[in-house]
Amino acid sequence: MSKHFETEAIRTQLNRSEFLEHSVPLYLTSSFIFEDAEDMRASFTEEKERNIYSRFTNPNTSEFVEKICKMEGAETGYAFATGMAAVFSTFAALLDSGDHIVSARSVFGSTHTLFTKYLPKWNIETSYFKVDEVDKVESLIKPKTKILYVESPTNPGCDVLDLEHLGNLAKKHNLIFVVDNCFATPYLQQPIKFGADIVIHSATKMIDGQGRVLGGVSVGRADLIREIYLFSRNTGPALSPFNAWVLSKSLETLHVRADRHCENALKVAEFLEAHDKVNFVKYPFLKSHPQYEVAKKQMRHGGNIVAFEVKGGIDAGRKFLNSIKMCSLSANLGDTRTIVTHPASTTHSKLAEEDRLEVGITDGLVRCSVGLEHVEDIIADLEQALNA
Ligand SMILES: Cc1ncc(COP(=O)(O)O)c(C=O)c1O
Repeated sequence: MSKHFETEAIRTQLNRSEFLEHSVPLYLTSSFIFEDAEDMRASFTEEKERNIYSRFTNPNTSEFVEKICKMEGAETGYAFATGMAAVFSTFAALLDSGDHIVSARSVFGSTHTLFTKYLPKWNIETSYFKVDEVDKVESLIKPKTKILYVESPTNPGCDVLDLEHLGNLAKKHNLIFVVDNCFATPYLQQPIKFGADIVIHSATKMIDGQGRVLGGVSVGRADLIREIYLFSRNTGPALSPFNAWVLSKSLETLHVRADRHCENALKVAEFLEAHDKVNFVKYPFLKSHPQYEVAKKQMRHGGNIVAFEVKGGIDAGRKFLNSIKMCSLSANLGDTRTIVTHPASTTHSKLAEEDRLEVGITDGLVRCSVGLEHVEDIIADLEQALNA
């Protein structure tokens, strides 16, 4: 990156139009026009680099992707309608029938469903390692293993994986190392520095940061992104120009928002850790976190998600949620508004208990996405709900 992160986020901008606008306009157009038949032919054969149709590229999505690439240190990228479209299209474009994935067991629920329900339809199998067993990764690698996949920190357990260690393993075994960097955002962690080939984001979360639009992006090595682009250009998971415009604007303030989210989250984590109705707290920048040293090595701050276990199991978790007054009960995260969820009785209730426990989702586990309200008000709400 040539300039500082903040400056690139604000000053990376499309060329100005004839109106010399200060802020970038919205190019809400599905297609673009050609000067003549030759211009059209050369554009379709990619002899000319230009916008043809917004399923392929659009100025607003290109600006958004360029910013993410600068922030992540990536060569190029492609933007998607959602984070899951980015995850699925990355696998679909890079894997062939018979290929094999090695993944951490703790991954976002829909990613887990891809591994267990959909990819097997195309004869693609996945082997898993527990987040605290990265030493077992090598033993899972087979001749047809093509992708090593992790998310860090994990959703919802807030575990941290050693990206440098995994990056080295991927290199040694010639695997494509794919990292879902959603919880950290490109401001807090840049996996490419540690050997990632592709970095994926759900931009729906802290990148938007205000709970407005869905979006996703995959960035990384140009040869791999080319495959992802060709797959997407033909199958249609593109990000809408409107959402790209919103998300590109959001990136201008990501560093300021993320700093405050993390400052609030650390205070919330410290408060919870000292509370006698809480069994344990998982926050990457708490010294008690099992991967605290790894988190310090690879993250700027600890992120905005705090996972903690309320004493008393499922009933206590549900009672805690029912007693919340200000914070929101919602499925999103990374919003200005603090959000609490109880995975065991909601998002992960269909998992068998032992599968849930295997990925660290204990009965009383609560996931708190710490927002930007005054931290004393957030803590006051959590405290009254714990004491209710
Ligand atoms: C880690 C992670 N990856 C991917 C996704 C999917 O993103 P989206 O909801 O934008 O499809 C989520 C959504 O919560 C997530 O938390």
